Amino acid sequence: MGEDKRIGVLTSGGDCAGLNPVIRAVVHRAIGTYGWEVLGICRSTLGLMTDPPQVMKLEIDKVDPLLTMGGTVLGTTNKGDPFAFPMGDGTLRDRSEEIITTYHQLGLDALIGIGGDGSLAILRKLAQQGGINLVGIPKTIDNDVGCTERSIGFDTAVNIATEALDRLHFTAASHSRVMILEVMGRDAGHIALNAGIAGGADVILIPEISYTLENVCRKIRERQAQGKNFCIVIVSEAVCTEGGEMIKNTDRFGECRLGGIGQHLAEEIAFSSGAETRVTVLGHIQRGGIPSSLDRLIAAAFGVEAVDLIAAGKYDQVVTWQNRQVVSVPIAEAIGQYRAVDPHDTLVKTARGLGICLGD
Ligand code: F6P
Repeated sequence: MGEDKRIGVLTSGGDCAGLNPVIRAVVHRAIGTYGWEVLGICRSTLGLMTDPPQVMKLEIDKVDPLLTMGGTVLGTTNKGDPFAFPMGDGTLRDRSEEIITTYHQLGLDALIGIGGDGSLAILRKLAQQGGINLVGIPKTIDNDVGCTERSIGFDTAVNIATEALDRLHFTAASHSRVMILEVMGRDAGHIALNAGIAGGADVILIPEISYTLENVCRKIRERQAQGKNFCIVIVSEAVCTEGGEMIKNTDRFGECRLGGIGQHLAEEIAFSSGAETRVTVLGHIQRGGIPSSLDRLIAAAFGVEAVDLIAAGKYDQVVTWQNRQVVSVPIAEAIGQYRAVDPHDTLVKTARGLGICLGD
C-alpha cells in the first residue's frame, strides 16, 4: 500500500473493443493493490466541462462484468477539441482551463487517458498547461499509434474483418463473383493487411502500397485460368483511386468521412474484367463486439502498468507493447511517430509469399 491517491480515468476518441477491460484492470490495480480511489470521467474531457462534473466512482466489486463488454461504460467522444471547442453558434472557444480547474477541484492526483494519437496529443497539451499528472494508454482499431506494436481494439477489429472474409468466401464461390470488403483504418492499412492474410484474401489493397487496376484484374484472370471462379478483395478505406483521388463523403452538416473506395473498385473491376462484383462495407461493426482474448490481455497489461507508473511518479508516459513486453515511453515520442504499414514489414512479405496480390 502506498500513500492514498485519487486518480481519474477517461476514454477518448472513437470507441473500440477492449476499453472496458482496461478500465477494469485500472480499477483492480489501483484499488486492489494500492487502496486508491478511482473516478471514471464520463465522455472524455466533456465530463470535466460540466457543472457538476460527470464522474462516477468506480468500485472493484462492480467492474468484473466489464471484461466481456464492448464499447466504454464511461462514454467517449471524437469531437470537441477543448482548445477549439465548437460552441453551437458557429464560434470556437478555448475551454481548456475549465477542464484543468475541474481536475484540480476533484482532488485528482493523476489521470489515465485511454486514447489514440489525436486524443493523447490533446490530453498531453492539457496536462502540460495545467499540471495534470498524465499517463496514456493507446487504443485504436487503426493500430497507428507510434512506438507500440499493438493498440487496444485492433485485434478484435481484425478478428471481425477476418470473419467477414470467411463468410464472403462461400457466397463469392457460389455466385462466381469478385467480392470486395472495405475496412476501416484511416490512413493505415493494418486491418486490411492482417485480416486479408488471416482471411485468405486474394487481393489486399492498403494506402501504403500503390496499385494498378490492371494488376488487380490480372490476379482475377489468373485465378479464372486456374479454374477458381471467384476472388476476394479487401481494401482499406483510405486507398485512393488509381488517379490518386481519396474518396470521402460529406454530409449535409459538412462532416467528412472516408468511404466509398470499395464501390469505386467494384465498378472499375467489373468494367475492366467483366467479372460480377459486390461490395461489403464493414463500418462500425469493426468497433463493436466482445473484446478478443488478445485485446483483453493487452488491456490487462496496460491497465496494470499505467497504475504502476502513477505509483512510481512517472508521468507524461504512454504504455506500449514491444516484443511482448509492456514498455513505457514518453507520450511525445509515441504521438510523434505515425505508425503506418511499413512496405518492408514481415506481413507484407508474408502476403507476397502466399501469392496475394497487393496491387503493385
Ligand atoms: O479511428 C478509428 C475509426 O474507426 C477509423 O478507422 C474511421 O475512419 C473513423 O474512426 C470513423 O469515425 P466515426 O466513428 O466518427 O465515424
